[in-house]
Amino acid sequence: MIKDLVRKNRSYRGYDESRRVTEAELRELADCARLTASSVNMQPLKYYLAWEKEEVDRIQELTAWARALPDMTLPHEGMRPTAFIVICQDTDIQESLARFQKDVGIAAQTMLLAAVEMGLGGCMIGNFRADSVKKELGLAENLAPLLIVAVGKPAEKVVLTEVQEGEPVAYYRDENDVHYVPKRRLEDVIIRH
Ligand SMILES: Cc1cc2nc3c(=O)[nH]c(=O)nc-3n(C[C@H](O)[C@H](O)[C@H](O)COP(=O)(O)O)c2cc1C
Repeated sequence: MIKDLVRKNRSYRGYDESRRVTEAELRELADCARLTASSVNMQPLKYYLAWEKEEVDRIQELTAWARALPDMTLPHEGMRPTAFIVICQDTDIQESLARFQKDVGIAAQTMLLAAVEMGLGGCMIGNFRADSVKKELGLAENLAPLLIVAVGKPAEKVVLTEVQEGEPVAYYRDENDVHYVPKRRLEDVIIRH
């Protein structure tokens, strides 16, 4: 059920490293992404798939996690994702990067929902330097990295909570490393006249 998938589809920052995500699984996720909506159906997005440990480790070094928890280094050692998908825009198809940001979100969310259905999970990573990633992966000039999606088998507990209007929405962790994500209430996100 879609709502169960949506609930389960959390931003995971701890994974079971013994479960390697395969190329075939990543191709299946990209196949879901390529079928999604795209502004004027331009489809300027391309997907760089990384599943080999050495390359995954190199990408990991270029990503920044959980900015709201500056005292913590996440993922913890030995709990890193085992794959990454770097969503790029092919600027030969469309030059404006701003115009297709929404396409990127749709593609990323679709891949993450599919990952959850496969018993996997992930995290969108917008906190990286596009030029470094481009250089590290040896991407062609026309490929601009826009968003990185980490993928792996989640190995941490994430709990959704509800907050009243005005309460803090910052995520936090308890002493058992359980991750809490406050969400605004339905009544507070529906606009009334
Ligand atoms: C566009 C986008 C970029 C994000 N970038 C990062 C990131 O760079 N690092 C990170 O740890 N989380 C990142 N996140 C995850 C958010 O922190 C997360 O969605 C939020 O805390 C709510 O948690 P939830 O996804 O489990 O609902 C990103 C999320 C989105 C939508």
